[in-house]
Amino acid sequence: MNESIASIQTDALERIANAADERALEDARVGVLGKKGTLTLAQAGIKDVPKEEKAAFGQSLNAARAAITSALEEKQAALQEVADRKALDGVDVTLPGRPVLTGALHPLTQIRDEAIGILRRMGFALADGPEIEDEFHCFDALNTPADHPARNEKDTFYFDSGKLLRTHTSSVQVRTMESQAPPLRIIAPGSAYRRDEIDATHLSVFNQLEGLYVAEDVSLPDLKGTLEYFLRELFGTTTEVRFRPHFFPFTEPSFEIDVKLQVKGQAPRWIEVAGCGMVDPAVFSAVNAARKDNAFDPEKVTGFAFGMGLDRLAMIRWGIKDIRLLIENDVRFLKQFA
Ligand code: DAH
Repeated sequence: MNESIASIQTDALERIANAADERALEDARVGVLGKKGTLTLAQAGIKDVPKEEKAAFGQSLNAARAAITSALEEKQAALQEVADRKALDGVDVTLPGRPVLTGALHPLTQIRDEAIGILRRMGFALADGPEIEDEFHCFDALNTPADHPARNEKDTFYFDSGKLLRTHTSSVQVRTMESQAPPLRIIAPGSAYRRDEIDATHLSVFNQLEGLYVAEDVSLPDLKGTLEYFLRELFGTTTEVRFRPHFFPFTEPSFEIDVKLQVKGQAPRWIEVAGCGMVDPAVFSAVNAARKDNAFDPEKVTGFAFGMGLDRLAMIRWGIKDIRLLIENDVRFLKQFA
């Protein structure tokens, strides 16, 4: 009996050694260890082995099974290696891989999101309005008379219908007050359009961020505190901020805001970053007339408003000298902000 196991083992190892591919190897395995395999059948014969020989018989069975199993595994690994090598034939695995390019946010998007983030933390909600506007929302309601230069055809894009591309986001102030009642505190980022000669600091489409806060007892110190805090969050806690008297039709008093900053590669200097002021009561009156109520009673509510150029903020933050770079989508430029 033991002799037959020895010969089963020899046969099996030979078949395994000679297997040319995985298929032949599998056939060999089934032929020995399968249900009707030679070793399986020999094992079934254990019942006919005399009692005193059973132990020795079992031992040689186990030894044969172990030898055959490890031969199968080794052969399997060897065949796999040959197959792997064949699959890589002609492929130079030492060549460097192709890098996967990942995108990044545009600098304008970055500064806009940052500005929105700061103002939202201060309680301002996002508001929106159309870019194709009418004269009422862009000018009349904002106390801008018909002969104001900003309304000139040379400065503003008009459609034949009389509508226009909004020249500033201040129109969203009016739209918000038409649909909401005080107290309200909103910001409105968005595009604005002007018929400007295009150069290093002017584009015909640019980006603004508008703000409006209306409630009872909103005062000039609120305006100053809010914008000083905002600008210090944006440009650094020690940034100096100054409010310079100015004129805007829709605010009284009005200011331009400068921050003292060091643009990369230049000496520190005052740079204008925003316009602002206390909402002119004439704006509230125009809104009330449009709403046909007195929700923004100029005797009861006051407010402040501000508007800033996001392109300008980005140029200041990163020392960008030409605004056109912001719309050219040159990857060599954009990569620097990734
Ligand atoms: N709309 C002004 C502009 O485009 C900016 C501005 C100034 C907005 C003062 C305001 C403000 O809300 O109060 O130049």
